[in-house]
Amino acid sequence: MNILKFRSQKELNQAGAGMIIEILQTNPGAVLGLATGGTPVGIYQELAAAHRQGLVSYAKAAVFNLDEYVGLERGHPESYYSYMQRHLLGKIDIPPKQCHIPDGMAADLESECRRYDRVLEEAGPIDLQMLGIGHNGHIGFNEPDEELEHVTHIVELQEQTREANARFFGMPEKVPAQAITMGVGTILKAKRILLVVRGPDKADIVKRALQGPVTTKCPASFLQTHPDVTVLLDTDAGSGL
Ligand code: GLP
Repeated sequence: MNILKFRSQKELNQAGAGMIIEILQTNPGAVLGLATGGTPVGIYQELAAAHRQGLVSYAKAAVFNLDEYVGLERGHPESYYSYMQRHLLGKIDIPPKQCHIPDGMAADLESECRRYDRVLEEAGPIDLQMLGIGHNGHIGFNEPDEELEHVTHIVELQEQTREANARFFGMPEKVPAQAITMGVGTILKAKRILLVVRGPDKADIVKRALQGPVTTKCPASFLQTHPDVTVLLDTDAGSGL
C-alpha cells in the first residue's frame, strides 16, 4: 500500500487527478470507478480543468459510479447522477452511454443490481477505482456488518451515515434510507484502487482501516488485502498513522 500525505489540498487534488490523467493518456479506453461525497470534488475540478486545457480526453473511456440513493429522481440535486453531472461528467467529453450509475428509481431494484453487475462485467475490469471512506469505515455504501456483500446490492443506510450526509439535504430525515452500492468484492476486483481521505474527523477511521484488523466491522480494512492501493491523505486525516 502506497500512502502519501499532503499539506495542501491543491497538491492532493493534483496528485489524484494526475493518476487518472496518466491512466487515460496510456489507455484512452480505460474504465474508471468513481466516487461521490465531499472528498473527490477537488479532484474532479482538476480533471475538468485538465480537459479544458486539452490535456486529456474521455471520449473512449467508461465510468462506473459506486452507488446511488434509492428513491431520488435523477434530476434531484442530491442524486449521485446530478452530483456527477455537476462536478465532472457535464464538463468533459465523455458520451452519456459510457457513463454508468445505478438507477435508484428502478421499479425492480434487485434486477437493477444484477443489470449493473452485468454491464460492469462486460466493460470491466475497472482500471482504477476511486474511493472515499465513511466515518464508520464504509466504502461505497457498504456499511459495517457481520457479513459483507460481494456484488451490487441494496443497503439500509446507518444513522451515522445519514447524519453525515444530512449536510447535503438540510436534515437527516431527508436523506434516503436506502442505497444501491457496488459490493466489496466488486470494488476489490479493480486493478488499482485510489483511496482519498481528508480532515481530522477521519483520522481514527483511517488508522483502523489501514492498520487495524481486517474485519467486516470496518469494510475499508479489506483494502489491506488488495495488491495495488494508493492512499492520498491530508495531514489531518493522516495524523493517527
Ligand atoms: C458517502 C458515499 C461514499 C463516500 C463517503 C464519504 O456517503 N457513499 O462513496 O466515500 O460517504 O463521504 P465524504 O467524502 O462526503 O466524507
